[in-house]
Amino acid sequence: MRSDQNGLALLAGLFLAAVSIPSARTHPAHAKPVNYPFVVGFERFHGSLDDEAYLAEGGFILLNELNCVACHAPPEGIAGQFSGIVATALEGVASRLAPLELEIFIRNPRFAKRDTTMPSLFAGPDRDLEEVAALRSWLGTLTKEIPAHPIGDIERGRVLYHRIGCVACHAPEAGYRPPGVPDRAEIEMVGLASVPMNLADLYDLNALTDFLLHPNEHRPSGRMPDFGLSVTDASDLSAYLKAGPDLALPDDLTEALTAESPPADAALVARGRELFLTKQCHACHAMPGEAGGRRAMPSSKPLANLDPAATGGCFSERPVGGLVPFYGLDLVQRRALAAALKRLAERSALDPAREIDWRMKQLNCYACHERAGIGGPETSREVYFGFSGEEAIKLGRDGHLPPTLDSIGQRLDLGQLERLLSGPAHPAPSRPHLLVPMPVFRREAVAPFPLLFRRVDSEGKP
Ligand code: HEC
Ligand code: HEC
Ligand code: HEC
Ligand code: HEC
Repeated sequence: MRSDQNGLALLAGLFLAAVSIPSARTHPAHAKPVNYPFVVGFERFHGSLDDEAYLAEGGFILLNELNCVACHAPPEGIAGQFSGIVATALEGVASRLAPLELEIFIRNPRFAKRDTTMPSLFAGPDRDLEEVAALRSWLGTLTKEIPAHPIGDIERGRVLYHRIGCVACHAPEAGYRPPGVPDRAEIEMVGLASVPMNLADLYDLNALTDFLLHPNEHRPSGRMPDFGLSVTDASDLSAYLKAGPDLALPDDLTEALTAESPPADAALVARGRELFLTKQCHACHAMPGEAGGRRAMPSSKPLANLDPAATGGCFSERPVGGLVPFYGLDLVQRRALAAALKRLAERSALDPAREIDWRMKQLNCYACHERAGIGGPETSREVYFGFSGEEAIKLGRDGHLPPTLDSIGQRLDLGQLERLLSGPAHPAPSRPHLLVPMPVFRREAVAPFPLLFRRVDSEGKP
């Protein structure tokens, strides 16, 4: 865990508490961001006190999750480990983000979402504004018909959010006590930084509901799983998230998206589409409207040829410009990445047990499950795994927390494992007393698990 950061944050917190008036409640969509791209599998298990060999393991996670491997090809023998991610699907982006927000996100994503994993290709004062405008014009034409979902109930969404497992990964609202929490349970501050969610209140409300109903389509990385929400639950959740700390929705919800945007100029739109390729946006995003994933990026140096001691390129503390993305990495991340690059030649194929761990870190299964003594819900988040009633409370931890995954490959067969992981969404839960469901992950992301669990847990028999 990032002890250095937490220590600093704590000090800053004490200092602030002493000198300032207590600030407004922290809403999950405004939770205090960290100042570097947030990767949960790195954040929870690595920190500045790690020895170099262990820190390198974290560096390998970053190489994949920050998609370095999309531009810097991994060595062939271990390419299977480093499939990288496919970033947010941009179809319909103009129906989610208003023109101004879209422009800010393209120009410097960290202005819209400080802890985002999208690097900037235009950071630095007033660089290439004409290119940004062209990209915005083209992305601005990518609208999508979204069914009109009802406007939800903010207070109901607030209760749901804190009971059905969102807080396994995201921040709770500071100072909020979910109903149904047994009296003896204390509400503590969560110890680990949470997955950021700052786009929630920048998205159009209806689009936010639609995202919560189909996260695996919007975010093909599969890092945000599908809870199989009903339309009512999704609308209530999005109303709560959009409402922010004031717990009130803006008066005119349609205003932002329908506001006068500069008229689309056909030449500018065409130039934007072309720039999407030349600026290498398609290294991470699929080309909107094209079938298939992102395109191959043969042009940058292979991973094995990168200089681990480099201070320039993508390790730079300041934007370099040109085609070099700016990530705003922090010191520990840079050290971890350098350590990983140094050990790249020694990196071997993963045996099945290590591969399970590798994938559970990427997808943050550890937010809810423990396996082989690793992970499980953080203690201070356990109160956000709701109890369904008195009977469940009597069962203690088993009454509200997801099961351990030890020996799961012995207990379930391949077909059962497949259905559990990639849907359809929890048709018949085997533990109906749990309020937190097993969410459904994108099929490609979880496809290897069933065989891996069977291999490791049932003595080699698939
Ligand atoms: C969108 C494509 C892209 C992505 C993604 C990307 N890079 Fe780069 N990187 C480049 C380009 C372009 C250069 C300039 C040198 C070149 O052409 O390879 C560069 C240069 C570098 C250099 C300096 C190379 C040297 O040997 O001097 C390092 C180190 C580096 N990148 C590491 C990373 C890491 C670590 C990540 C992920 C956090 C990453 N890059 C993600 C495109 C990318
Ligand atoms: C297993 C961890 C996990 C759980 C549980 C989870 N999320 Fe997420 N969520 C993520 C990750 C990771 C992302 C960022 C994905 C990306 O970078 O594309 C995300 C993104 C989001 C976003 C997009 C906002 C933004 O700024 O990118 C919203 C809204 C959201 N989650 C809401 C929810 C809600 C509501 C729940 C509960 C129903 C929930 N999440 C449960 C992991 C999780
Ligand atoms: C290294 C990978 C990478 C590259 C290169 C990249 N993106 Fe992204 N992009 C991401 C990721 C990851 C997200 C999700 C960020 C989040 O939610 O925090 C994202 C999100 C976005 C979004 C927000 C979409 C939404 O609906 O939430 C826009 C717009 C966008 N990218 C445009 C671009 C453009 C334009 C380029 C080229 C100039 C580009 N991206 C290059 C990784 C990348
Ligand atoms: C938001 C919390 C959450 C996340 C994240 C999550 N799970 Fe689960 N999972 C559950 C719950 C709750 C159950 C129990 C469902 C039931 O029995 O009704 C479960 C059940 C399971 C089971 C069956 C266990 C048994 O004993 O019946 C497996 C296997 C499993 N999950 C694997 C995974 C994997 C792999 C991941 C990551 C890709 C993951 N889960 C992510 C909550 C979660």
